Amino acid sequence: MTTLSVNINKIATLRNSRGGNTPNVLEVAINCQKFGAQGITVHPRPDERHIRKQDVFDLRPHINTELNIEGYPSPEFIDLVIAVKAHQVTLVPDDASQLTSDHGWDTIKHHAFLKEVVARFKAAGIRTSIFVDPVAAMINGAKETGTNRIELYTESFAKLYPVDPLRAVAPFKESALLAHQLGLGINAGHDLNMKNLRFFSDHVPFLDEVSIGHALIADALYLGLKNTIQEYLSCLK
Ligand code: PXP
Repeated sequence: MTTLSVNINKIATLRNSRGGNTPNVLEVAINCQKFGAQGITVHPRPDERHIRKQDVFDLRPHINTELNIEGYPSPEFIDLVIAVKAHQVTLVPDDASQLTSDHGWDTIKHHAFLKEVVARFKAAGIRTSIFVDPVAAMINGAKETGTNRIELYTESFAKLYPVDPLRAVAPFKESALLAHQLGLGINAGHDLNMKNLRFFSDHVPFLDEVSIGHALIADALYLGLKNTIQEYLSCLK
């Protein structure tokens, strides 16, 4: 079974645009779980432009599914993830000024750093996932860090899908087979949406989890959060 983790950063962005507490990030997270999401993802950035450090502390006791915290493993980020004891941490190579994640790790160049960071999280009992492009060398490199899982960066799939779906999904299928052979769990995310998710899920084996934010929250404007989550879940069946 592939689980759906809803990334609620966009809710925080909307809230922050006005000050105050509308929409209420905590309430949305609780409702996502009530509506069937099997996880909540947040990406606290150093400038706190969407999810804030305090949100992470406020959310933690209410996440009875899986709390996945993604971000660049700066010392502050590592301390935060360990302090709240997230269920899973997804390591992304973004710098602080990036609009959104736009590349996976070079797991060979950053081997020593990733290995050390993964070991710290594992010692704290937190499952680790490393964000990578669907490239064999990067997946082999991820394995060498000791990580539990990888997260496949799906933007290239989403871009090519409308033109040539089979060609778009091919590297992801191969990557998933390799990762599974290596004993790694497999997550995926970025630009997955209601149009491409079913195809992705039907063609990529051993998919443990998808993490979806932007498109899901945008769809919720029209369909409502409950219907939207249920639609996304049905794409994963
Ligand atoms: N995975 C990672 C590592 C991300 O940085 C993001 C965006 O925050 C996502 C998944 C979700 O992407 P999207 O918002 O396009 O669904």
